Amino acid sequence: MNAQRAGSRPLLAGNWKMNPARASEAADLARGVIGAARAASATVDVALLPPFPWLLGVAELLHETGVGLGAQDCFWEPAGAYTGEVSAAMLSGWCQWVLTGHSERRQIFGESDEWVSKKTKAAIGVGLSVILCVGELDDQFEAGRTDEVVSGQLQAALEYMSPGDSGRLVIAYEPIWAIGTGKNADPEHAYRTMRVIRRVLDESLGDEASSRVRILYGGSANSGNVGSYVELPLCDGCLVGGASLKAHEFARMIEVVAEVYGGPTTEEATTS
Ligand code: PGA
Repeated sequence: MNAQRAGSRPLLAGNWKMNPARASEAADLARGVIGAARAASATVDVALLPPFPWLLGVAELLHETGVGLGAQDCFWEPAGAYTGEVSAAMLSGWCQWVLTGHSERRQIFGESDEWVSKKTKAAIGVGLSVILCVGELDDQFEAGRTDEVVSGQLQAALEYMSPGDSGRLVIAYEPIWAIGTGKNADPEHAYRTMRVIRRVLDESLGDEASSRVRILYGGSANSGNVGSYVELPLCDGCLVGGASLKAHEFARMIEVVAEVYGGPTTEEATTS
């Protein structure tokens, strides 16, 4: 156990992206994780982020298990003529969490910092907790521009945020070159960037409010490397894509995080 971690609760969130293809597979995946999440629930927060159509079915399975449910996106207006959109207000009846600013939304769907900021504010305004993603592209990393890019994204996203909202804000540092590539970031690089994130949070929200904001790592995290992130003094967990689609693998990650934080785990952790 890493003694520095005592007293804070880590978060492991599974971003399923546009997977799995069938409702029955989504149910199997959720069921496969519940045992491990319950076993570690004294120590680790776990959240599952399925695609919109699977939210209600997964919500039923997660009811009273202590495992959180989240969506992968939201729109800031509560209702209206916004074809294809789902509002934060609509999600708030089912979910505790929502992702904003994921790099796939920024890159494939052209989401601007301003949109990310509006979505984040709307989600927090209706009582959701937000996992806000920031991270640099490969060429920005190579050019040594990580700090500047991540600070800029974060400052823009925090524009409408008040210190009182900070308990429901989590920042996920996800270097884009590490997402889905199998090339997870060197923990040293993640740590250096998390220090920058913490500094921006301190400056924007004040030290006390900033201390309530958890910081996650994301990008090819798996059971073999998750320990090296959650052992970092500034890292409060991981946002997991590909590895969260395999129940056994995600269950093992929950176990590893619980071990680092010195919490109980049981054989249930590998039950699917
Ligand atoms: P990955 O995705 O774990 O598959 O790299 C992480 C994410 O996009 O949140």
